[in-house]
Amino acid sequence: MKNLFVLIVLFSFVFGYGQKSKLSAEHYHKVREVFRQKMPDNSVAVLFSAPIRNRANDVDYIYHQDPNFFYLTGWHQPHSVLMIYKNPQTDSQGVYYEKIYVPERDIYMEMWNGKRYDLEQVKLLGFERAAERGDFKNDTQSLDRFDRVLMFEFKNDIRSQKTYVFRDNVRYKVDDPNDLFDLKAAFREAINFPNDFNRLAHSAYQRIMEADEDSLEEAREAVASIVAGDSLLIYDEIIKDFLNKADQDFYREVKRKTAFALRNYNFDIETLSLIMADLREVKTKNEVDLLKKAVAISVVGQIEVMKAMHPEMGEREIQGIHEFVYRKYGAADEGYPSIVGAGENGCVLHYIENDKEEIQNQLVLMDLGAEFYGYTADVTRTIPANGVFSPEQKALYQIVYDSQEASINAALVGNSFRSIYKLSYDVVAQGLLQLGIISEPSEAKKYYPHGLSHHIGLDVHDPGNYLKLEADMVITIEPGIYIPENSPCDPKWWSIGIRIEDDILITQDGPVNLSAGAPRDWEGIEAMMQQESALKDFILPEIKTLIQ
Ligand code: GLY
Ligand code: MN
Ligand code: MN
Repeated sequence: MKNLFVLIVLFSFVFGYGQKSKLSAEHYHKVREVFRQKMPDNSVAVLFSAPIRNRANDVDYIYHQDPNFFYLTGWHQPHSVLMIYKNPQTDSQGVYYEKIYVPERDIYMEMWNGKRYDLEQVKLLGFERAAERGDFKNDTQSLDRFDRVLMFEFKNDIRSQKTYVFRDNVRYKVDDPNDLFDLKAAFREAINFPNDFNRLAHSAYQRIMEADEDSLEEAREAVASIVAGDSLLIYDEIIKDFLNKADQDFYREVKRKTAFALRNYNFDIETLSLIMADLREVKTKNEVDLLKKAVAISVVGQIEVMKAMHPEMGEREIQGIHEFVYRKYGAADEGYPSIVGAGENGCVLHYIENDKEEIQNQLVLMDLGAEFYGYTADVTRTIPANGVFSPEQKALYQIVYDSQEASINAALVGNSFRSIYKLSYDVVAQGLLQLGIISEPSEAKKYYPHGLSHHIGLDVHDPGNYLKLEADMVITIEPGIYIPENSPCDPKWWSIGIRIEDDILITQDGPVNLSAGAPRDWEGIEAMMQQESALKDFILPEIKTLIQ
């Protein structure tokens, strides 16, 4: 029993700190200022740090800060809250527009996890006001003075944390009264957040309140599209009346009822996402620099794997080479679970088992991205395990390549996401028609089932409005063709999955392919696979020879 206790104490892993920021206090202060400009009058935005998530038993997942919180703060620790105010607030020291709440020092836990950053460090990050997290509970008491409290909807993914207290030099494990769970609970109570909250109904009510007599039709369309997400809402009396009766006098009555239904609430779960999408879709120069580095590291991973690959390798070993390269350059993490799929596995879009032991002569789809100081690349190459594309692999590969070329060349300021997707789809459809794999362009959707592009940044799928391309956006361009076994075409095409994915910086002078360093045409890939690998002499003993 005694031994068991020692074991538990030694292996209690709470990975409490995320990765620090590389960017300056000035950077973050400026970002918060731009954020504030976009806030509605007399509003406050409340953002929480990410929760600590449990992996199993007494081991937690490595902490990763919430990207929106990190974007505005650069603060990498849990149990923290940020408030930004549209209008000036005053206290005994004068006027301020922002306040961050962070955990206090905890010498005992620091023995396990390293120095916890506290008020002194957070002040270095340039916040106008910083307080210990317990103060947040007091400050929630006056949230009703704002017209709107901007927030993200609560996610049901946190648990109450334990902490330690000492009495007479004895250590006791107790609930932590100020962990994120409790801070959120206090906040929920302060804003009267209903237990049976219906997000779509709330959005519909807000949309009704925002409409005026000139924009009634537009508002009706918006509410109808909200209702499409939950058709039971059609039975809600207010929504039903709003959608069905066009009379303006009647609208005033509906609005009065809506105002009454919302009378107890000043929270707003829509606007914060919209502001963050507006901000995050266009990168600052500092962010572009970090993204360039993340992409360059990922490119080296692809190149080293091209050189090292041979048919006896397994998917996991390939994954390991990429990730080893990332660590070698100081990237702490991958931006998403690595995808390494050979043959049929390459046809599974987000395949992450990566456990096929021998890749033989198949095509290997490798979709991996290094995360460098929070910013993630997203690069895919698809290469033949034996170094040479078969005629079928090459024919399909060339279509995906041509499709990607068409979209990259069209990735110009002012063009829409929709238009570059259409270009890429049309090339794939034409190619599949010519090979006799489909007989109608619309059938290409079956083999090219995903979108073409997304923003990258602190999230691999970064938020944005996804309308027109603007300078300083960084997006992926990633067409693909996937023909799983038993598809309705000649079996010679089966089990071929191909995606080519590059990270493109949009500029006034045209697209810049940040991942161009990793060959992506079939000739370039075959030539790179001929080159000698630095891992050629990295030969480990066979494990079975080491097991007694
Ligand atoms: N790696 C996920 C994606 O390409 O979107
Ligand atoms: Mn992607
Ligand atoms: Mn990807």
